[in-house]
Amino acid sequence: MSALRQPATDAHYCVELERPDDFDAWRTAARALVQARVPPDAVSWREPGGVGDLFAAGGCALPAPPPAAAPARASKRFLDLARHAALHRDPQRFALLYRLLWRLQAKPGIMEDKADADIAAVENLAKAVRRDSHKMHAFVRFREVAPGDEPEAGPHYVAWFEPEHHILRANAGFFVRRFANMRWSILTPAGALHWDGEVLEEGPPALRSDAPCGDPTEDLWRTYYASIFNPARLKVGAMLKEMPRKYWKNMPEAALIPELVAGAQRREAQMVAAGALDFAERPQTLDSLAQAIHACRNCPIGTLENRAVAGEGPHGAPLMIVGEQPGDQEDEAGRPFVGPAGQLLDRHLERAGIDRRAAYVTNAVKHFKFVQRGKRRLHQSPTAKEIDTCRWWLESERALVRPRLVLALGASAARGVLGRTVSIARERGRPIGLEDGSELWITAHPSYLLRLEGAAQEQQARLFDADLAAVQARLAELAG
Ligand code: URA
Repeated sequence: MSALRQPATDAHYCVELERPDDFDAWRTAARALVQARVPPDAVSWREPGGVGDLFAAGGCALPAPPPAAAPARASKRFLDLARHAALHRDPQRFALLYRLLWRLQAKPGIMEDKADADIAAVENLAKAVRRDSHKMHAFVRFREVAPGDEPEAGPHYVAWFEPEHHILRANAGFFVRRFANMRWSILTPAGALHWDGEVLEEGPPALRSDAPCGDPTEDLWRTYYASIFNPARLKVGAMLKEMPRKYWKNMPEAALIPELVAGAQRREAQMVAAGALDFAERPQTLDSLAQAIHACRNCPIGTLENRAVAGEGPHGAPLMIVGEQPGDQEDEAGRPFVGPAGQLLDRHLERAGIDRRAAYVTNAVKHFKFVQRGKRRLHQSPTAKEIDTCRWWLESERALVRPRLVLALGASAARGVLGRTVSIARERGRPIGLEDGSELWITAHPSYLLRLEGAAQEQQARLFDADLAAVQARLAELAG
């Protein structure tokens, strides 16, 4: 909400915003001012905590638009840009946005003029805000705190973050969707968010000392980070740009960075010599593994606004079925293979006599990668790098479940298991020995069958059935 003050001289208006991130209030006031033809230099914008204003005193009145005044015009592109730029900490941002809105009334084409100083300035503000949000998505680290008055409410996770701009409230939805089932708080010097699994509440500014400093999850993060850290690919400059030093103090894994950088050459040689990762430090239960997976944001997919979908099935399952990544419906349900591909898979498994409930079903990549098109989220294939980053989780699942057979559905799943790309046509229908003594069997992905039609679909369905029948025969052989 805003209050609009008009001083006695009528020369200036002072708009007071109640919150520094209140874009909607700015927009309402800006529209009224434009419609009443109040030029930019006759308006001052104030926000809480801002410097005092010369024109602050005066009566409250919205400027009355002249009779039949045209409403203010603002394109979607301007509003998208302005919505981000308004969250910048620059105290001049609201004045800048108003000046641009004012100029756009006469010349809407300015929006496309990259050389225009106001456009460039607003774009820079918006870019800095997007970057800050991206950092928040990537670098917030929750730490479990001791149960307080409500131990029955389950674990409570608290994170400390220092945003550069007024982005906390704007990013609340991301964390609610991402950690919908967790009880968490994000504390910042500008305010706090508290989510209890159902209701989001805001809190007052916090101090660093209000947040916990460390818990066992941090060891997990360190182990994970150390295991995906690839010294051979290290580019210190690029890493510092992506993960600036100021975020390090709140990220448990960052404590490792200087040591990892210093020891890069040595570690590379050791990794090559060892040829395998250390399984001793992985999560010891499927539940703790699922929790760690939910908190993972170590690749670009992990920063999309969705949840991680961990595998499901019994510990000790003889068969592990690996897909590519959760789809739209899996992301909604938080369970693998529940959408159309899952239903097709279920029919073929049943036909082959494989009991899905006795198998552990998971994916090579734990997050749904998509692009938003209107209301729809369209599937995007993960890159090899994203699959490789997620391998640590798949390997951890294998280390805990210890299946005798792993069935990879499609090329991404096969890469997730093997760490290299293979041809399905060449490898399907026969076992590939894995380093822990289990066997990998590779077949097509059910989504591939769903995309085919007619004779091609029938032919691929027959091959799929034959692959599943071979897996079932091998399972029976191993059990007997
Ligand atoms: N496709 C997959 O690969 N996995 C799922 O969980 C769903 C669809």
